Amino acid sequence: MKTRFQLFLIFSLYCACSAPKTPSLSTIDHQVDSLLSMMTLEEKIGQMNQYNGFWDVTGPAPAEGDASLKYENLRKGLVGSMLNITGVEEVRKVQKIAVEETRLGIPLLIGFDMIHGMKTMSPIPLAEAASWDMEAIEKSSQIGAREAAAMGINWTFAPMVDIGRDARWGRVMEGAGEDTYLVSQIAKARVRGYQGENLSDPLTLAACVKHFAGYGFSESGRDYNTVEVSRVTLHQVILPPFKAALDAGARTIMNSFNDLDGVPATGNSYLQREILKGKWSFGGLVVSDWGSIGEMVNHRVAKDGKEAAKMAVLAGSDMDMESYLYVSHLKELVESGQVKESLIDDAVRRILRLKFELGLFDNPYLYCDEQREQEIVGSEEHVAGVLEMAKKSIVLLKNEQNLLPLKKSGLNIAVIGALAEDKDSPLGSWRGEADPNTAISVLEGLNEYPDNKYNFAKGADLVLEQPVFLKEVKLNTTDRSGFVQAIQAARSADIVIAVMGENGFQSGEARSRSEIKLPGLQQELLEELVKVNEKIILVSMSGRPLDLSWADEHLPAILQVWHLGSQSGHAIAQVLYGDYNPSGKLPMSFPRNVGQLPLYYNQKSTGRPFNPGDDIVFWSHYSDVPNDALYPFGYGLSYTSFSYSDLRAEVLENQQVKIKVNVKNTGPREGEEVVQLYLHDHFSSLTRPVRELKGFQKISLQPGEVKSLEFLLGKEELGFFDGEGNLQVEPGEFTVMIGGSSKAELALKFEID
Ligand code: BGC
Repeated sequence: MKTRFQLFLIFSLYCACSAPKTPSLSTIDHQVDSLLSMMTLEEKIGQMNQYNGFWDVTGPAPAEGDASLKYENLRKGLVGSMLNITGVEEVRKVQKIAVEETRLGIPLLIGFDMIHGMKTMSPIPLAEAASWDMEAIEKSSQIGAREAAAMGINWTFAPMVDIGRDARWGRVMEGAGEDTYLVSQIAKARVRGYQGENLSDPLTLAACVKHFAGYGFSESGRDYNTVEVSRVTLHQVILPPFKAALDAGARTIMNSFNDLDGVPATGNSYLQREILKGKWSFGGLVVSDWGSIGEMVNHRVAKDGKEAAKMAVLAGSDMDMESYLYVSHLKELVESGQVKESLIDDAVRRILRLKFELGLFDNPYLYCDEQREQEIVGSEEHVAGVLEMAKKSIVLLKNEQNLLPLKKSGLNIAVIGALAEDKDSPLGSWRGEADPNTAISVLEGLNEYPDNKYNFAKGADLVLEQPVFLKEVKLNTTDRSGFVQAIQAARSADIVIAVMGENGFQSGEARSRSEIKLPGLQQELLEELVKVNEKIILVSMSGRPLDLSWADEHLPAILQVWHLGSQSGHAIAQVLYGDYNPSGKLPMSFPRNVGQLPLYYNQKSTGRPFNPGDDIVFWSHYSDVPNDALYPFGYGLSYTSFSYSDLRAEVLENQQVKIKVNVKNTGPREGEEVVQLYLHDHFSSLTRPVRELKGFQKISLQPGEVKSLEFLLGKEELGFFDGEGNLQVEPGEFTVMIGGSSKAELALKFEID
């Protein structure tokens, strides 16, 4: 089915076939320009407008978001994209209006937050990051993309690449943790997973890297709060993952709610015009965040909606998500000469180009195939895929006296905690179109091992009512009536599995917490349980690092299982029983207490570091808690063990260094290790981190097996960005450290000229 414009194009190309062609324009650019030349100013502005679907909101919705108005505006060609419409039937309805009832028949971009799955849920992104397995993450992203595309979506608002240094911020669940290098690698894997080789393949989606930029640095971890970062931090820590995702081909980028240097990101020319569209020559489309153009009025930098629209468009925001301000004001702004029409043309070109690339002009219903939807969504292959991903995402934090893995028979096990039977929380926040209560619970997973006896006692409800996306979670803080039964179960058990942590809606957007201990009555219950049975395995289910200090001090085993998606319970049980040897490593530091936040391993050298042997107090530290994390970045145990030796460095020409190391499996069983390489620059013109991740490889080793690994460090690894965003490589001494966590101790010095 061709659109009206497509028919026109065929006709005009036919008529113009003897005319000279512009050789520098690709076919798509040529088509875009032809279409643009036919559009009225109003129609162009319409393309820059994104409307929310009719039923689902992911933020405060302005009154103008009334459904009847949307249909009317759709018909007038005043909508370029819609979000939060899913399912072939619904998408077809709106696409049909755009294609058949508007003057030019331009199809819609259909956007959706497919963050970690659509129906078949993968683990939350932070959990997946713990796998350090790029192939697995790419595959998991591909599963989500296939299901979303089969449900009519052609654009996902992912990956989120904001750096997460503060566990109070609920959106750390949506990112890949605290480290710029790891986040960059994962960003690339996700873009490959979503977009595949060919954007017009109906089972791929356009990616949208977000939130540009600095959103992860919201002060005190409070969502939507002010951001205060230096240009150096911006260029060294925050921007590289965006660049990596764009280099991997991400077609779109979303700006953010926060301000930066006093200017909201949405109206920030330095970010969008100078860096993104200037220095980086980004040719894709910039969408605002939900209502973020309008929010510049709340930021008090625009006196009204008209001024906000002007600021945003001048700064390079091409599409207005849910502010309704471009359609309301841009025409007047252009006609009064305040905004040049060439800026509008540039934005519209970017939008149309994406529509062509997605194949929407060839077939606007490309993503609307009922049969494909039926076959793809929830397929067995996807279920198996998310289970694999879930197993790889689990991190073993503590395992005294090899309490784990469990024997498969003869044990009497008490399973305690509301989360043990919870089929909803593992679906996590940003759960696409997952049906509520469809995850495999821990109890269901354990029941697959029927030769042990399980005695389940909830102990206490975690929440008072089933939480929903839009509302605050209501915790149970008073009803302890189940404590007695839980304590009895623990007393008579050989082993206790306590499943505790956060409800799926306690992390995610707008879910900041000022306290990150086990919420509700769980800590109190745990303290009662340990009085009657010391053999407690804590299965910690959360969307963020929690403060597990008490558990670390009092319990022999802790397994960090995050919110693992649809197959959660199976994955957890398989790890508990050793059918999968845990291989996850933390992508974010777990603090000793909330007061340490923001916490990250790659802190800078200070003027007052710890000086071994000194016993005076005047150095940079806390007097009540050590500086370092309880469980550091990159840390995670296995049921086997590894040793590192023979670290060698060979300095090559042209500021390159080859590093070699041997890794051996010194334990009793096959296992995977994430070999991590950290670098420390001894002296530089700017203060630099004490160590920084600059490479990693995930390998599998049989017992006794040794592998020799090689890493190549080049300018990007040895250098750093200055405050202008220029890469500087300074000669001098470096120390390389290699090991299985950010505490890696095997070290060697080398020098580059
Ligand atoms: C979020 C974005 C999201 C958008 C659309 C906003 O509230 O910050 O990440 O893509 O809503 O749902």
